[in-house]
Amino acid sequence: MFDTTPIANPADKTAFYLELDQQLASLIESEPDAIANAANMSALLYHAMPELNWAGFYFLPEGTDVLVVGPFQGKPACVRIPIGKGVCGTAVAKRETILVPDVHAFPGHIACDAASQSELVVPLIRDGRVLGVLDLDSPRAGRFDADDQIGIERLVARYVANLPA
Ligand code: SME
Repeated sequence: MFDTTPIANPADKTAFYLELDQQLASLIESEPDAIANAANMSALLYHAMPELNWAGFYFLPEGTDVLVVGPFQGKPACVRIPIGKGVCGTAVAKRETILVPDVHAFPGHIACDAASQSELVVPLIRDGRVLGVLDLDSPRAGRFDADDQIGIERLVARYVANLPA
């Protein structure tokens, strides 16, 4: 079964994300199902990363302009987010990662869980098309920094690369 041993030193972020990436690889590399892998990736991140209150996916169905919630860990969340709205919809509109140290200072932030104080949203992009986002929320303002962004972008790239053609 999957090794759920906690990562030794989460303070060393380079080592932490390398190890997390290896754990993600062992979870998803032999499984092509996108939903199954998103579910397990959400659970991995939620349990391995300190100080999270929500970790999960929003998907953008082809031909639509509204994100729909996918597999996640945390409290029940807003189901639909139009492109351009909130942090998630902004990440899709800009096609780039959005790191929000203080959600109260982000105009239009959508408060699904009042506990969230900071947020990191990474778009899933394949062949130029945005497929959705990975959204991480923390109850601590300033929880995410540039090292977290680099580490999570690497994990998202692995998730996207593993999707079936
Ligand atoms: N805060 C997000 C909405 C999704 S929840 O945090 C799970 C946003 O502003 O897009």
